[in-house]
Amino acid sequence: MTQQLKEILEKLDDLKKKFLKDISEAKNDTDLENIRIQYLGRKSEIAAFFNLMGKIHSDERPEMGKHLNILKKYVQETFDNAAEQLKPKATSHEFFDISLPGIPASVGTKHPLNQVLDEIKEIFASLGFTIEDGPELETDYYNFEALNIPENHPSRDLQDTFYINEKLLLRTHTSPVQIRTMERMSPPVRMIAPGKCYRKDAPDATHSPVFHQVEGLCVDEGITFADLKGVITAFARKLFGANVKIRFRPSFFPFTEPSAEYDFSCVMCNGKGCSVCKGSGWLEISGAGMVDPAVFNFVGYDSEKYTGYAFGMGVERIAMLKYQIDDIRIFYENDLRFLNQF
Ligand code: PHE
Repeated sequence: MTQQLKEILEKLDDLKKKFLKDISEAKNDTDLENIRIQYLGRKSEIAAFFNLMGKIHSDERPEMGKHLNILKKYVQETFDNAAEQLKPKATSHEFFDISLPGIPASVGTKHPLNQVLDEIKEIFASLGFTIEDGPELETDYYNFEALNIPENHPSRDLQDTFYINEKLLLRTHTSPVQIRTMERMSPPVRMIAPGKCYRKDAPDATHSPVFHQVEGLCVDEGITFADLKGVITAFARKLFGANVKIRFRPSFFPFTEPSAEYDFSCVMCNGKGCSVCKGSGWLEISGAGMVDPAVFNFVGYDSEKYTGYAFGMGVERIAMLKYQIDDIRIFYENDLRFLNQF
């Protein structure tokens, strides 16, 4: 090793010591930046040594290069470590009260229609009804034909029904689930079927082209209209309280005979008459009746042996009464100012 290289290596050693002293005294970002410029910048002492390489004997260049690279790497790593140490962090002397409540995450609420549906399902489940399901895309057979709705019946009109093609449509009521359930099981049947229905109605305060119904069906030996009245009454009392009154009016549906429409006494004014019940004291809920024997024939039930009742129920209707909502459209607008109230 020449004297020249020896001197250079000694200088590198001194440089390393000086760097270690400086970096150990660095207290802040300014100190760090000065050290970076002095030892790692383009005009640093280490850079100057690299420039010196061309001036030493070519035999000794690799040796010098090796030492320089080791030093440069060492300086860079030591510098990075020191910078990391000086970074501001949540240090232990910062006060952190773990007993404080956390920041609450904002969670959504269940849609009011689903809340009412849950309540309806719970009440009927407590009365021994099963919960059945059927498709929203239905065939003409289940939506109309098997329900004894003849070819020329007005509810089959193109104006009322969303037809997909001649045979397929969006169900206009949940009654097709009556048929599907009876096809699947033999009596006794006691079921409800909640779900969406579709009708070509122009939206206004009381109409929506999509809405929800809950269908009810009970078939067994010896079922009478009195059973229907009893179940509807029990349901109404559980939902609206013991004081609610129930009224049945004669009506017509092709799949029930006799048929009725049923009303609850107005829950706003207790039957005295108000703007919600338009002064009548009564609120229409839906239709009901005894299953028409013709329907039993479609599903192969013995209509001499079995009788049954069926009823429908408008879910929006009930939710509007329960929460005193006067416009059905608000259920579908996804306005958080409305939804967050439930
Ligand atoms: N499906 C009828 C409607 O949508 C309601 C109904 C159900 C009537 C069951 C009688 C029996 O209007």
